Amino acid sequence: MLSKKQARAFFLGGTLVTFLVFIGLTIYSFSVDNDQTNHDQLSDAAIRGKYIWETNNCMGCHTVLGEGAYYAPELTKVIDRLNVKYNGAGEAVIKSILMSPVPWQPNGRKMVAYNMTDQEAEDVVAFLKWIGNIDLNGFGEVVGVDRKVSPLSK
Ligand code: HEC
Repeated sequence: MLSKKQARAFFLGGTLVTFLVFIGLTIYSFSVDNDQTNHDQLSDAAIRGKYIWETNNCMGCHTVLGEGAYYAPELTKVIDRLNVKYNGAGEAVIKSILMSPVPWQPNGRKMVAYNMTDQEAEDVVAFLKWIGNIDLNGFGEVVGVDRKVSPLSK
């Protein structure tokens, strides 16, 4: 059994060690070498696409980065996924889903028919492409897609 004094030392020591580990990992995460976001590739089209994403409540049914609703598929790596499924035509398929005047419903559940213009659909694709290129340490990774190596494994 620990004495009261030993228990206090154990508690303070443990707290200090985990606090230092936390600070260390925070500094590590924010260091420039470990930057896993690809914010330097954020194009005007991707920004417009994000705006369309926000203003059309895509997250009311879908998730990106695991955030949103679970009615319809996760879309973080949707370009990769549909490229594999449709032999490289993923972007074209997504554009036709977004530009369709009738609701897309391949498996019974319905999406909103957005009837987007070509430009709007292009912008959403640019946004999904940008999101898909964020290095997420393997989250949502699609088998058969050769992605850039994680900075952590350099
Ligand atoms: C009312 C719910 C709903 C909303 C809102 C919605 N979707 Fe969908 N979406 C769906 C459903 C349902 C599917 C088809 C799922 C399936 O394969 O069965 C789908 C499919 C998709 C797909 C193809 C996914 C795949 O893996 O095949 C893309 C891309 C997509 N939606 C993008 C969007 C975008 C972008 C928005 C916003 C502009 C949006 N969706 C808004 C319900 C929705």
